[in-house]
Amino acid sequence: MILDGKGTSEKLTEKLKIEIEKLPKKITLAIILVGDNEASKTYVKNKHKKCAELGINSKEFYFPANEPQKSILKVIKNLNEDVKVNGILVQLPLPNHLDEDVIINTIDPNKDVDGLTLANQGKLFMNKPGIEPATPKGVMTLLDEYHIDIQGKKVVIVGRSKLVGKPLAILMLKKNATVTIAHSKTVSLKDVTKDADILVAAIGVPKFIKADMVKKDAVVIDVGINRFESKLVGDVDFDEVVEIASAITPVPKGIGPMTIVSLIQNVIECYKIQEEIRLKEQDLGKN
Ligand code: GUN
Repeated sequence: MILDGKGTSEKLTEKLKIEIEKLPKKITLAIILVGDNEASKTYVKNKHKKCAELGINSKEFYFPANEPQKSILKVIKNLNEDVKVNGILVQLPLPNHLDEDVIINTIDPNKDVDGLTLANQGKLFMNKPGIEPATPKGVMTLLDEYHIDIQGKKVVIVGRSKLVGKPLAILMLKKNATVTIAHSKTVSLKDVTKDADILVAAIGVPKFIKADMVKKDAVVIDVGINRFESKLVGDVDFDEVVEIASAITPVPKGIGPMTIVSLIQNVIECYKIQEEIRLKEQDLGKN
């Protein structure tokens, strides 16, 4: 079975459209892009496109690759203060001279649509409600839409990034999976991946996962998006692995579109959190 991320994302987009139409005001996402990474430019373009489709304002703040950190921090601080801005996203990766942690953690956690600030990561770790990173959230939503059971299953995630591997491990654990995170230093990787009931590839190497690394009838989730011989391919060798897996996500049209839908869900969640705070403050003002 092919897990149709694109189709699922379109279905969810229709639901989001209705939810967004009902909101009392137009919500706004600010996207910060630094430098000319081609993949980042494409991702950002797709995010703007989705916002436009759904009636969300999206504003871009573009900086050249050599922009000093302090001017980026200043823009983020202004966006934090701007009540018209509901979400702030800094597209990663950033150029090397910038401190990613400092930049991300300057974002107001209540506007952190990527769920990457310490506050939101801490909430995730502590099982408290917060904003979850978009790609892992998209993976969980897709599995849920297909009613794929996670409880008690052996989940192996290859890749330990803060955007995907680590937060996804926590979300899987919340659903009572038995979770292993494998990575470039894992010994006998094939033995580890072959044990997985659900195998997630988030490595960033084209077609890395081959048929002999996958257990028969495993569910295979491919988070990779790589340009390879002028085509987009995932981290899984799809043509080989599709013969073995019981379910698999394609690239493109798999996790990519699910990530963008999750991002939009996060923008709405941030808006709701901000409204709640505003109403509380109003009440306090009255008493
Ligand atoms: N770069 C690759 N994926 C992502 C993402 O989900 N968020 C951000 N901010 N940068 C990314």
